[in-house]
Amino acid sequence: MTDEQILSFTKNAPTPLYVFDLGELEKRVAFLRSCLPEKVELCYAVKANTFIIEKAAEIVDLLEICSPGEYRICDRLSVPHSKFVVSGVNKQADFIDSAIASDEPAAYFTAESVNQFHMLRDSAEKHHKRISVLLRLTSGNQFGLDKDDLFDVIARYKDDPWVGITGIQYFSGTQKNSLKKLKRELDYVDTVLSELLEKHSYAASKLEYGTGFPVSYFDGETFDESAFLEEFSKLLSDMTFKGMITLEIGRSIAASCGTYLTRVVDTKVNCGERYAIVDGGMHQIVYYGQFMAMKHPKIRRIAAGAAESETHDAENAAAADCNCGAGAESAAAADWNICGSLCTINDFLVKKFPFADLRIGDILLFPSAGAYCVTEGIALFLSRELPGVYLLDTDGSIRKVRDQIPTEKFNST
Ligand SMILES: Cc1ncc(COP(=O)(O)O)c(C=O)c1O
Repeated sequence: MTDEQILSFTKNAPTPLYVFDLGELEKRVAFLRSCLPEKVELCYAVKANTFIIEKAAEIVDLLEICSPGEYRICDRLSVPHSKFVVSGVNKQADFIDSAIASDEPAAYFTAESVNQFHMLRDSAEKHHKRISVLLRLTSGNQFGLDKDDLFDVIARYKDDPWVGITGIQYFSGTQKNSLKKLKRELDYVDTVLSELLEKHSYAASKLEYGTGFPVSYFDGETFDESAFLEEFSKLLSDMTFKGMITLEIGRSIAASCGTYLTRVVDTKVNCGERYAIVDGGMHQIVYYGQFMAMKHPKIRRIAAGAAESETHDAENAAAADCNCGAGAESAAAADWNICGSLCTINDFLVKKFPFADLRIGDILLFPSAGAYCVTEGIALFLSRELPGVYLLDTDGSIRKVRDQIPTEKFNST
């Protein structure tokens, strides 16, 4: 998003807000596809950002949906159920029932336990529908089935009339930047799939693997993503399993398309430290790996003067301050602590970030805010408004898809 675009619409759009750039989302998915083996399917884990579902549904193969709410959002957007992977550790019976009874049941349901498998199977039988199920293999936590239970389900139900067991789902965590760890996981899953063939004559046709691909959020991080994805692709090609591989990804698909905008509302020097208070806060911007706000994300600043002069003052717009990381400021830069609007000492967005001259009215842009920030923050804390949400379309137009929403009604009797 150009500074010009930002300047023109922040005039009227109250901060804090998010903008999600759908053109960037398209580019991101195309990039991932170009780096991964051709046969591999992409499944977008919508929990990362539900505002970009409509565009994502056009450009990925499947959507992983983890709750009745996410299901209803996809339904409201008329996403075809043939793209749905209905997932989640707590699938309520009525939710399963209505999803299976639907004219067009989801492409896949995941089973997170033996009980859940039976709930799915009973419902399929009740509605006389044959459904496709992926059994989630646990990675050693509360999610998925224990390997022995999974083998037992397959032994007993691999030829079931109501449930076609299509294969296995496996996800162990996010922000995984170790190829060694990814290899260990793929080796493990590959062995399990081979054992299933040997011991139960069961050939899975699909592996749905949550890669947890990493995103670089902070200044100074060096990550050669193309080389990483090339190595990862080799790991996939080396597997004994030759069925369909679906990569279930949230963060790595969504992060780059989002920017969070918040405005400086107060400045002060307390005990020798510079503080800027912004109208957003830690309840709205979450960078995985941020610890006590010590790391520096790649913040950009648009000075209040530039914002006032709007786009017709091209010179001023071009002069809008751009702090692409620490050290990018002029010699006069001083360290600022950027704090949010919450009444908690923890509401630090970043500590000691160098700005030349931070002023009330300046807009701070936090990039790579497309994944999880808008859905994961502790948004109701302190009854502050939910930020507005805007989509930057591929034709350059910006459309508001959510106003700021007051939250006091959620926090009162
Ligand atoms: C089952 C499952 N799949 C996929 C994802 C997406 O992970 P990421 O955002 O790291 O790609 C998650 C995230 O929690 C998940 O729980």
